[in-house]
Amino acid sequence: MPGILLGDEFPNFEADTTIGRIKFHDFLDKSWGILFSHPKDFTPVCTTELACAASLSDKFAKRGVKMIALSVDSVEDHCGWSKDVMAFNSQASSPLPFPIIADEKRQLATKLGMLDPDEIDVDGIPVTARCVFVIGPDNRLKLSILYPATTGRNFDELLRVIDSLQLTAQKKVATPVNWKPGDKVMVLPNVSDADAATLFPNGVTNKEVPSGKKYLRYTQL
Ligand code: BEZ
Repeated sequence: MPGILLGDEFPNFEADTTIGRIKFHDFLDKSWGILFSHPKDFTPVCTTELACAASLSDKFAKRGVKMIALSVDSVEDHCGWSKDVMAFNSQASSPLPFPIIADEKRQLATKLGMLDPDEIDVDGIPVTARCVFVIGPDNRLKLSILYPATTGRNFDELLRVIDSLQLTAQKKVATPVNWKPGDKVMVLPNVSDADAATLFPNGVTNKEVPSGKKYLRYTQL
């Protein structure tokens, strides 16, 4: 089955994009990256999504995350549609702040498991689903999300998960439900109480539960 799993090295593919031909690892240049696909240029939900992504591009850049989009359309279509996307944001004179990959032959979409069999183009061929890959500075896949063509994504949530990924890459913690930066985090299950006391000088609190097991350990970083 095509696709890519968490921890896999992301393929160093070559592709045509709105900034010319790229080799993906050179494009990333050891930064964090986010590659997100959309079904089709000049469609409504895709336009709202890329406009939102463009409006948040400073926030991705602040986190050191390089952005790149992908669909099965041509570079020419991407360039024309980018103007619509920026006009939708009332920024008609600004360029789209990230490139778009032209995967007209669906080679990448097939290899990475991005096609949506329920959504077909005028020729009856599946288009790309709304797929998100977050890639770490080691070129390995840190997160993937796959939505069907009919459901637009939440790009604020993508910033939130990047905050979690970047934090948990550095500290032996995990982020609980609906966590946001500044909230308490949870000590990883494989960290002993003795190690936790050293690692987390702000202290570790434990939430009591009927089992008596002490696995709900919180700390404030
Ligand atoms: C859209 O972007 O609106 C869209 C594209 C393909 C299928 C469904 C919706």
